Order: sequence, then structure tokens, then C-alpha cells
Amino acid sequence: MRRLVIMNQKGGVGKTTTTANLGGALARMGWRVLMVDLDPQAHLSIHFGFDPEQEAPTIYDVLTGDAKAGDVLFRSAEGVTLIPSCVDLAAAEVELVGHADRHAILVRAIDALDEPFDAVLIDCPPSLGLLTLNGLTAAYEVLIPLQPHFLALQGLMKLGQTVALVRERLNPMLRIAGVVICMQDTGTLLSAEVIHGLEQILEAQRRAGNAWSDARIFHTRIRRNIKLAECPSHQVSIFEYAAKSNGALDYAALAHEMFAAVEVKELVAADVAATIPMPAPRTEPVPAVEVPMSRQAAGA
Ligand SMILES: Nc1ncnc2c1ncn2[C@@H]1O[C@H](COP(=O)(O)OP(=O)(O)OP(=O)(O)O)[C@@H](O)[C@H]1O
Ligand SMILES: [Mg+2]
Repeated sequence: MRRLVIMNQKGGVGKTTTTANLGGALARMGWRVLMVDLDPQAHLSIHFGFDPEQEAPTIYDVLTGDAKAGDVLFRSAEGVTLIPSCVDLAAAEVELVGHADRHAILVRAIDALDEPFDAVLIDCPPSLGLLTLNGLTAAYEVLIPLQPHFLALQGLMKLGQTVALVRERLNPMLRIAGVVICMQDTGTLLSAEVIHGLEQILEAQRRAGNAWSDARIFHTRIRRNIKLAECPSHQVSIFEYAAKSNGALDYAALAHEMFAAVEVKELVAADVAATIPMPAPRTEPVPAVEVPMSRQAAGA
């Protein structure tokens, strides 16, 4: 099972869009996908048609101990399963302050699910608080969406330190898979400068041999594409909404690069798939980690 947490404490960089469309890609390839919305804004939930205003139980009830994860699952029309969120989740950070194991509630909830999943994708809020900490404790891989803007790299070291701390104290299986550039405006000088700066940071971190040691900048860049901004209002992923768009191509290519089993030509229109060179998927096998015993042994 792959367990990915999609995080960046900067707001509006493409976390939710990346979670939704990577999950959509995997679901269309027949993977059993669980998405977890850890953001009180509930954008991922709304994207797939969950109404956070209704009284249905959400991740808030799971974190506060009032429901099991299996009791709050929401099934989207497109075949993804979601643990939805709602605005109350913002209060959970405060309500859980006295809870001794507050960072590990999500991992326990996922481990206790009866239903088998091939991939779990966790969408974080734009902060490094308790909700993100639960995401990091529940995952094996961190994916960092980054918008190549002025100040994009500021905050990356803090993010890395947070991951390192979680790896050291709570979840030794955690590693940073890499950075995906989102909303790229092709050909701008600024993008090139940010990516160069990022390469230097990753190189220095790799040498230090820590959570970053096999992190990379994904070859696939997600270009700015209006169809990606439109598809949440249709409650589906980009593959259902606009299979010929650049957004569909880019997320299909990213899914292929991250999950070798995903075939681009099965996700987007064949004539479109033929137009782009595909990056090779990672060749080194991603360790198949079976939790929960080793995690428990690690004291999480
Ligand atoms: N490649 C893209 N092209 C055009 N618009 C995009 C693209 N990626 C994301 N967007 C839009 O940009 C906005 C921010 O994206 P998104 O919600 O994915 O970011 P986020 O990091 O999850 O934000 P937050 O930190 O608030 O959770 C959204 O309106 C989304 O539809
Ligand atoms: Mg978001």
C-alpha cells in the first residue's frame, strides 16, 4: 500500500488539486484509493461532491474519537473513497491539546479500517500544526507541491525540519518523495530561478542523508491550466472533466512517474497522449512497507 501525504504550509500552491487528480488517476486505473481531507476548508471533500454543511460525520468525528474511519467514508461518483472534512476540524487542534497520542490518531484510524486500499492520499491544510502532524505520522511518503514564485523556497527548510522531526520521533518510515512544480507558467525566468534554487537545496539535503535523501524534483511539471480550476465545480477529476486538456496530460504523466503501474494512454485521449514525451517512472522499487506493528514498535 502506498501512503502519501501532500503538504506545504504555503497556501494555494496546488496541494488539493494534486491530491484530487493523482487520486482520480489511480482510481481510474482500478486502484482502491482512499483520500483523506485534513483541511478545515474541506476543498477536497467539496471537489468530489461532499457537502460539508450537512450533518454527516467527518474526519473531525474520527479525530475526536466519536466515529471510526470506516463509519465516515464518502464515495464519489467517480469511484474514489474519501474521509471528508468540515469547518469544525479547525477546533480539533485545540480540543486535542490534552490528548497524549494526539499526533497518531489518524494513523490508528487508517490502520483499523477493514476495507483494503491500494493507496491513501492525505491532503493537508496550509500549516504545520497538529492536523499536518497527523498526516505525516500516517504516511510513508511526502509529496510537496510548489508554485515557482518569488519566496516559494522560503519555508521549505522549516517544512523539511518538521518532516525530519516526525521521522525521528514518530514515524521512521517517512521519507520525502519529492517536489512537484504546480501552476507553472512555461518559459518564465522566475520559474527557472526557483527550480535552480530548489535543485541546490535538494542536493545539499541529499548529502546530509536524511528524510530528503532520495527526494527529487519530479520531471513532470503541472502547467497552469484553467480546466484544473474548473473541474471541482463538476465534482470529478480532470480525467472525467477534460481528458484532452494539458491538466489531464500533466497529472497522468505525474501519476505515471510516481506510480509506474499507471499508463498515461489509459487516462487521456490516445491522440493527446501521443503528443508528449513521457518521463520514465522511478526505477528503484518503492519499499513495500506493511505497517502497523513496526510503527507501533517505533513508539508512534
Ligand atoms: N495547474 C493549475 N492551473 C490552474 N489553476 C490551478 C492549478 N492548480 C491549482 N489551481 C487552482 O489554484 C487554486 C489553489 O489550488 P489548490 O486549492 O490546489 O491549492 P492548495 O495548496 O490546496 O491551497 P490551500 O493551501 O488553500 O489548501 C485553486 O483555485 C485551484 O483550482
Ligand atoms: Mg488545499
